[in-house]
Amino acid sequence: MKTPEWFYDERICCGHDFTDPQHAAEYDRRHGQFRDFEQEVKQTIPRLGLRPEHTLIDIGAGTGAFAVYAAPHCQKIYAVDIAPAMLRICEEKCRARQIDNVEFHRGGFLTYEHSGPPADAVVSQVALHHLPDFWKQVGLCRCFDMLRPGGILYLLDVVFSFEPWQYQQAIAEWLDKMTPQTGAGAVTHIKKEYSTMGWIMEGMLQKAGFAIEKADYQDCFLTHYLCRRPPA
Ligand SMILES: C[S@@+](CC[C@H](N)C(=O)[O-])C[C@H]1O[C@@H](n2cnc3c(N)ncnc32)[C@H](O)[C@@H]1O
Repeated sequence: MKTPEWFYDERICCGHDFTDPQHAAEYDRRHGQFRDFEQEVKQTIPRLGLRPEHTLIDIGAGTGAFAVYAAPHCQKIYAVDIAPAMLRICEEKCRARQIDNVEFHRGGFLTYEHSGPPADAVVSQVALHHLPDFWKQVGLCRCFDMLRPGGILYLLDVVFSFEPWQYQQAIAEWLDKMTPQTGAGAVTHIKKEYSTMGWIMEGMLQKAGFAIEKADYQDCFLTHYLCRRPPA
């Protein structure tokens, strides 16, 4: 079917441009300053109830922060990203570790067409904020459709949960905790990307059909949602 003229072009990355090979090449070093990918996945696996027979879709997989470490614990991961430069690094890392159960797809929340059996889980870490709200809603509806009844959506993203009239103080305090380098990344995020408010995100998840089992608003910014597509 022909894409309508009004359809959002998700291949153009707002804010940080992950389609830029140099940006992609620096990603792991930059994020390594405040993240430990392996440790994150160790904490996420029990949250997901991940089992060896499970199939997952990782949307906005990037350089494989989740896929590379989760692959040994499940049957298959579909690593999906709009940025070939990011996916290429994910692929190289999988090859170096002899991981052969990750399949790579260029696409995104709005364009990835899942052709395998419905997934047991959809995972997305710090990627959905690249879409404006209406298109987030469309993306979440599409995630719902990719899941089997009873399947899990695990969403980690920067979502604002401070009181709206306190935004200046909340953002200043958030930036104060950062180094100059990580702070510069956060400034780009706030200025140019599309993080939304917690109450809007919860509404969108529910409108897409999900039951929210847990919403963990860690520091008014980084938020984990564990949602379920209701069993048939
Ligand atoms: C901050 S990185 C996160 C990568 C990885 N998930 C992680 O946890 O490190 C954001 C990723 O989302 C991807 N992205 C941006 N817009 C997207 C979209 N509409 N659909 C899927 N991925 C998208 C970018 O290419 C980038 O790889």
